[in-house]
Amino acid sequence: MRLTLRVWRQAGPDAPGRMARYEVTDVSPDMSFLEVLDTLNEELTLRGEEPVAFDHDCREGICGACGVVVNGQAHGPERTTACQLHMRHFADGDTIDVEPWRAAAFPVVKDLMVDRSALDRIVASGGYVTAPTGSAPEAHAMPVPKEDAERAFENAACIGCGACVAACPNGSAMLFTAAKAEHLGALPQGRVEGDRRVLAMVETMDDEGFGGCTNTGACATACPKGIPLPSIAAMNRGFLAAARRAR
Ligand code: SF4
Ligand code: FES
Repeated sequence: MRLTLRVWRQAGPDAPGRMARYEVTDVSPDMSFLEVLDTLNEELTLRGEEPVAFDHDCREGICGACGVVVNGQAHGPERTTACQLHMRHFADGDTIDVEPWRAAAFPVVKDLMVDRSALDRIVASGGYVTAPTGSAPEAHAMPVPKEDAERAFENAACIGCGACVAACPNGSAMLFTAAKAEHLGALPQGRVEGDRRVLAMVETMDDEGFGGCTNTGACATACPKGIPLPSIAAMNRGFLAAARRAR
């Protein structure tokens, strides 16, 4: 396959950005999207040009580092991470636009790399979970209803990629914050500090400059891990109850 990539180039946080056009040849349909960027970077390096900066780590859909907007969609046309997006979803001769996450709370560091540390600060503000240390407790010491365990597991799948923020027209981090609040709040072990956690995480989310949620649902559509939209409703219920109790 032969592709034309139009890639966002920006030398630094305060530098002006622009779309740069590159031709990439010999692209295999089995390549991942990041491997195409690797191929482009090899060619740029051989030509003595600055390679395109982009974030990645695991390349297995686990770490959440690799987010880019492909043809206007967070992580591209498939519901997966950019590192797991394969070129078989594109056609020979395609022109593909590649941009960084666009959100006020994710400032561009360079080219396709953005600073997603605001998400880390939301998690950090949630604080600790009280759990006894020492040997593993007896498995049935604290029964957990199956649906609660499944809800916790479902929300724990969030990899912190930020696609929900990038897809949201308001730049809201509600789906991410809800996943982090719910995966602990659904379990009895996490309920002890549940009120304090949800109040602190929502306050940090607002302080970090994320937008408000208007229920467009774009976040859940873009989420590569299938975090469900009702998690936001569950967090809102928990937040309101916690705010009432705190008064
Ligand atoms: S909720 Fe989904 S899209 Fe948002 S950070 Fe978590 S895994 Fe990524
Ligand atoms: S590089 Fe880790 S999820 Fe893509």
